[in-house]
Amino acid sequence: MKGIVLAGGRATRLRPLTLITSKQLLPVYNQPMIYYPIQTLIKAGIKDILIIIAPEYSGHFLNLLGTGENFGAHFSYAVQMEPKGLADAFIIGRHFIDGDDVTMILGDNIFEEDFSQEIQNFKSGAMIFARKVTDPERFGVVEFDQNKKAISIEEKPTHPKSNFAVVGLYTYDKRVVDFAQNLQPSPRGEIEITDLNNIYLKNGEMKVNLFESLWEDAGTFDSLLRVSNIMAEKHLASQK
Ligand code: TTP
Repeated sequence: MKGIVLAGGRATRLRPLTLITSKQLLPVYNQPMIYYPIQTLIKAGIKDILIIIAPEYSGHFLNLLGTGENFGAHFSYAVQMEPKGLADAFIIGRHFIDGDDVTMILGDNIFEEDFSQEIQNFKSGAMIFARKVTDPERFGVVEFDQNKKAISIEEKPTHPKSNFAVVGLYTYDKRVVDFAQNLQPSPRGEIEITDLNNIYLKNGEMKVNLFESLWEDAGTFDSLLRVSNIMAEKHLASQK
């Protein structure tokens, strides 16, 4: 199982902070944001990790993260010249993936859960992770049957079919590279991970894993502050 951290993007919602650095380098309490998704992959047993970054500030990522040795992992880097969409990670990462299974995590998604069991037991097809939310219309929403097989995934639906949001952690078998290469850009000009997921879903090969612990997409001022406060409290509690 290979790992990808997708840490490019424009981060327009965090301007002016992101006019001088990358979103994923901003602090979440006492660590740069990108440490959290990296730690989530490493905790899941993934040590071979490709970090996809935007050209601006790319040197800062190399300075900060280096070879991965300090994390007990091996890091490779690739530059995404334009934010073409989440599914572009598998086109950029195709040589790195090299016929293996792959788990991709978004560089601004923060979890506490240990996903190692699900990820280590992955066999084939695709697997997404979903969490109950009170405002599903803001997210990708997944509907699933009693066996946790996905029935539908809809991007920001007006009438959500469930309360379960698809979070920024996805596991695929090696076919993901071919599927991604054949995607057409959506009306907003991106190749969408939802379109990729729907290919697996239509084949009946999309498994949904539910979890209940912390999940924050730290891409807005409010969520960045919220998750920083949560991490500060946890840190304080661990010192007592
Ligand atoms: P988003 O938060 O959807 O986009 P963004 O980071 O550009 O922010 P904004 O909407 O405020 O302009 O992206 C989710 C994550 O995926 C984030 O860590 C950036 C990353 N990403 C890429 O690396 N490449 C891309 O093409 C896209 C769309 C996102």
